Amino acid sequence: AHQWRGVLREYADRLDVTDATPIITLGEGGTPLLPAPALSARTGAKVWVKYEGMNPTGSFKDRGMTMAVSKAVEAGAKAVICASTGNTSASAAAYATHAGITAAVLVPEGKIAMGKLAQAIAHNAQLLQVQGNFDDCLDIARDLAANYPVHLVNSVNNDRIEGQKTAAFEVVEVLEDAPDFHFIPVGNAGNYTAYFRGYSEELERGVSTKLPRMFGFQAAGSAPIVTGHVVKNPDTIASAIRIGNPASWELAIAARETSNGYFGAISDDKILEAHRILSAEVGIFVEPASAISVAGLLERADAGQIPAGATVVLTVTGHGLKDPQWALRAADGSDVQPTVVPVDTAEIAGVLGLAKAT
Ligand code: F0G
Repeated sequence: AHQWRGVLREYADRLDVTDATPIITLGEGGTPLLPAPALSARTGAKVWVKYEGMNPTGSFKDRGMTMAVSKAVEAGAKAVICASTGNTSASAAAYATHAGITAAVLVPEGKIAMGKLAQAIAHNAQLLQVQGNFDDCLDIARDLAANYPVHLVNSVNNDRIEGQKTAAFEVVEVLEDAPDFHFIPVGNAGNYTAYFRGYSEELERGVSTKLPRMFGFQAAGSAPIVTGHVVKNPDTIASAIRIGNPASWELAIAARETSNGYFGAISDDKILEAHRILSAEVGIFVEPASAISVAGLLERADAGQIPAGATVVLTVTGHGLKDPQWALRAADGSDVQPTVVPVDTAEIAGVLGLAKAT
């Protein structure tokens, strides 16, 4: 039996990889597409979850990073750079160090989740906390890549989008067609664009019979695509998508139009409610930004936009262990305090509400 070989080898015929391309892989892709009965019951649709937290660094970024870093090394790069709300930096750090090159990462000071900060540092990145927001970091990263010998691996690099489109291939393979709807979080809109490209290619090849309607969601305090203007000071607890000026804005608008899609904004409270539903009812642990796919589905189903029996895929983009603090907040906003018990079986049985077997 063979193990999954990572997206560049698995999809070599669908990507710009040649014998000259060094394959820098950590085994990304091949993530589970899981049925979510609790979400199907709530919506009347057939709901599947593409669990991208199962990638090697815990987010979908790895699909794009294997491509971007491999192509960078093929081009002779000795260093890569990115701006990040955390996941891109964790992924760039891991793939760069695996390739034996340097990663420099620019993150907004104090605004990325602890797990992601720890990953970049663990993987030996040159991590700089910039006294600004993500959009400032991206401006500087582009500037550096244009004027210094360092290769940009943000999703403005088309290699990232190319690698990420493989997730749509995997969905079509499992469902044996495209779904009717695809729900996905939106920050820079790179991943939204990547799925659209992947689904479009499957349709062109005749492997699927339709394009899914692409439904993208931004946090209400960071919703430039929904409101139609740049947000100067984006704000949301979903730190991964705290972005005010998305890099792939125009591509995403085009993808929405072609796919008869939708962009919506979701409040932080609704994001956290969806996070609880996904953890407690489906058994899938994600970071808050990922839960916006679930929140978006519940909102659109309530609005009557999802026909009964429709096939719906939700991408959940990042693992819950990256940013676990939200799970320890109850629905009423209070801290969850795990019950403390003495070393006493009878007393513990009582607390658990167990009656002794007779
Ligand atoms: N979900 C997670 C967990 C993310 O980390 C990101 C983006 C997105 C969704 C949105 O994807 O930008 O392609 O629309 N994170 C980037 C980063 C910005 O730096 O890690 P997008």
